[in-house]
Amino acid sequence: MSDRPGAAPPPAGRFVAPFVGGAVAVVAATGCDGTQSALAPAGPAAERVLTLFWWMLGGGVLIWATVAALAVYAIVIERPKYELDPTRWWVIGGGVVAPTVILTVLLIYGLGLIPPLVRDAPPGSLTVEADGVRWWWRFRYRTPDGPVETANELHLPTDEPVQFLLRSEDVIHSFWIPPLGGKVDMIPGRENRLALEADRAGTFRGACAEYCGASHALMNFDVTTQPREEFDAWLAAQAAPAAEPTSETAALGARVFLRSGCGACHAIRGTPADGVVGPDLTHVGGRPTIGAGLLPNNEANLVRWIARPDGLKPGAEMPAFDHLPKAELRALAVYLKSLK
Ligand code: CUA
Repeated sequence: MSDRPGAAPPPAGRFVAPFVGGAVAVVAATGCDGTQSALAPAGPAAERVLTLFWWMLGGGVLIWATVAALAVYAIVIERPKYELDPTRWWVIGGGVVAPTVILTVLLIYGLGLIPPLVRDAPPGSLTVEADGVRWWWRFRYRTPDGPVETANELHLPTDEPVQFLLRSEDVIHSFWIPPLGGKVDMIPGRENRLALEADRAGTFRGACAEYCGASHALMNFDVTTQPREEFDAWLAAQAAPAAEPTSETAALGARVFLRSGCGACHAIRGTPADGVVGPDLTHVGGRPTIGAGLLPNNEANLVRWIARPDGLKPGAEMPAFDHLPKAELRALAVYLKSLK
């Protein structure tokens, strides 16, 4: 940058481009379908977070616009006359006073929004233990008849607070359902608490929001919010033992499952498979996706997953079973898909 008198001013386009880029980014961000968007809230906590986001964005844009306008003024318009007065007052006002006032107002406003976000659900609320595991989610509903375990699939009743108890079995993960509320870390050796409420029925997607290793980006889960009666029916079905195989192929799959040692890691309640290391598969056939939100749940994808989990999800601990004959792999998939 030169301050030689008479040098040509920089083209105005240089200052306009960032404005246009920012506007395009905002439009693109709001163009999501809403299943995993914090900009499409489906509950009071997410609405608060979104309100705070808009105020912070507004304050940030105000500060940025002020500073950008002063920069344009100094570089383009008032270029040849750099004098201490009254320039000094622009610097003190725009560079110190304005950001301090705006940021203080935003801080006070933001702090005021926090208490309801960290409050527990009332005693007696539905309670779900959520464990982060590399790279999937273990969910355990506390019920009067004992825990009901699922994996990578969460159903929640609408219009009532749900208490989550967040834990980790290995490294730090972060539990986040963007349309329902803010994210909270899952820390080994510790139990964090989060209350969420959904105020409309829908299907959403949750994600891990803390980098946790090779397949961090492949650690997601399906969320269904539904009226209480539908939720009760779903939970009762999840609590029931696995369905018996109804075809010869599925029966072969069940035998292959037990013979191949799958039950050392996976439980299928109602069968001898009672492993606790991996996801509970008692009702795996009814889940929308497999591999923690990785692939649509169908027989072809189940075969792909069982044959080479590591090829689809780097670092996955499940061993490959591509040594099994194709017919047995397919039978396994048919059996698992039948476990609704
Ligand atoms: Cu778990 Cu990132």
